[in-house]
Parts: sequence; C-alpha cells; structure tokens
Amino acid sequence: MTRHFLSLLDLSSDELLALIRRATELKRMQHRSDIHTPLKGKNLGMIFEKSSTRTRVSFEVGMSQLGGHALFLSPRDTQLGRGEPIEDSARVLSRMLDIIMIRTYDHTALELFAAHSRVPVINALTDLLHPCQLLADMQTYFEHRGDIRGKRVAWIGDGNNMCHSYINAARRFGFHLNIACPEGYDPDKAILETAEEQAVIVRDPLQAAENVDLVVTDVWASMGQEEEQKQREKAFARYQVNDALMAGAADDALFFHCLPAHRGEEVSASVIDGENSVVWDEAENRLHSQKALLEFLLLGR
Ligand code: CP
Ligand code: NVA
Repeated sequence: MTRHFLSLLDLSSDELLALIRRATELKRMQHRSDIHTPLKGKNLGMIFEKSSTRTRVSFEVGMSQLGGHALFLSPRDTQLGRGEPIEDSARVLSRMLDIIMIRTYDHTALELFAAHSRVPVINALTDLLHPCQLLADMQTYFEHRGDIRGKRVAWIGDGNNMCHSYINAARRFGFHLNIACPEGYDPDKAILETAEEQAVIVRDPLQAAENVDLVVTDVWASMGQEEEQKQREKAFARYQVNDALMAGAADDALFFHCLPAHRGEEVSASVIDGENSVVWDEAENRLHSQKALLEFLLLGR
C-alpha cells in the first residue's frame, strides 16, 4: 500500500519519533559533509499553487543531497492550470515520478490527487494543514530541550493550518496545547474535538502562555487571505507575541515561528530576534526532517 503524508496523523507516534531521530542523524551527517545518496535515480515532483521559499528550497536541496532530482511544477505553465482533471494529472504524473509534493489551497483536492496517485504524495501546505512544518518544529524542540511529551505549548493567533497541525502534533507527541485566538478565528471544530483535553482554547493570550515551555505563532493573514489583512490586524491586535507575553512563560521557554514573519504584527522584533527564539534552527530543520520523510516514504525506513 502506498503511504502518503497528507497529515501528521498518517504516521503513528512511533514512526514520527523515529523520523525525528533520523532527521537529527541526517543533519549531523550533512554538517560533516558525508555523502549519502540512497535516492539515486529517484524523482520528486513539486507542485506549487502558492508561493514558497523554505518548502521549495528544502525539498529541492534535500532531494539533491540524497542523490535524487526534483522538478518544480507550476500550474501557470502546466496543464494543471488549464483545467486538466486532478485525477488525470495524478495518474499521469505518478507514472513518471517516484514521489510528489503539493502545496495548494483546497485540502480535498490534495486528497483527491493522492487517491489517484501510484506514488507517495506529501502535503507541502494546504489551507487546512501544514504537517511538514511540524516535523521541523518537533525536531527543533527535541534538539533544544529533549522530549516534548508532557510539556505545555501555547499557540497564539489564528486558528489556521499551522494551528490545526499543532493540534494533531499534541495528539501524536503527547503535549498539552493552549490555543489563544480571537473569537471568530477558532480552529476547525472537528479537528479540535479529536484532541479532547489535550488541546483547549484559552481566549486570553497572557493566560494561554502562562508557564508554557514553548510559544508558537504564525502570520495573521495566511496566503489567500491578503484582502482580509486590515480587518485581521484589528482582530488580532491583542495577540502579539511580545516581551510581556514571554515574561509569563517558563524562563527557558522557546519561541517558534514557521516564517515568513511580520515583526510588529504577530511577533515583536525583541522576541523573534531575542534569546528564546530558535526560528533559524526551525527553518534549517525543514531540510533535515523532509530528507528523513523522503527516505521513509521511498525506502520504507
Ligand atoms: N514555513 C514555510 O512553509 O515557508 P515557505 O512558505 O517559505 O515555504
Ligand atoms: N499560515 C501560513 C503559513 C505559511 C508557511 C499560510 O498558510 O500562509
């Protein structure tokens, strides 16, 4: 059976933990300049319907480091953008490629593609989920602080794709998640309910961050919501991660942001550029954790 990675929940807790251990091993190997090319002759197709810096570069470089090749496919210059049915595109592409990564809007379009693909499909962000980012985030937490099981995490801001993936991560990795979002910007109810008491909404951002081990935020307006920017700036004004908020968290609390960040909006410059912030390690770990994911899906280990 072809394994896909559309959600963190597609892997068991044990598989995710092993993947993160492997990511740290691959990082060490890369920093030593070891040559490790188990994916020689393998081709990754990368379909991007939305912009990307980190995801594109980490997948493309990761594939190259593993001895394989990556192709960038944009709907603007393929038949994907001219209405060729998703099912047909999946059938054709999966007869030529060994693995496919997709960044798109509608999560159900990604699921439809995967259902008609012979090869593994990776979710590189949809409006619903961003599971690849969570691999890097969990790797970063483990590398700085050890196991996240039993720790307390605060999500501050929009109940968006990243927030949904944090809810899934709370289930798989066993941490507690406080979600501080303004009314009207809650995460998907069905996703939240699956986590039961492991993830809860705490409206007040200061209360949500009290004594937590990790504070995480993301942009107030995600890709596709640009026209809501002004309205969201008003709604989220009290939800900035700044020194006052970090002061209530544990002394050694880490700060994460998937990036790109907007200093002065969701996070103050003092926090993102301060000593609790590990956002550059987090960004680098996109490379190592996705190499571990590519090995897992293509080699079964
Ligand atoms: N964090 C993240 O996915 O970044 P990009 O949009 O640059 O890929
Ligand atoms: N929530 C953001 C994440 C960007 C990596 C977005 O979807 O635009």
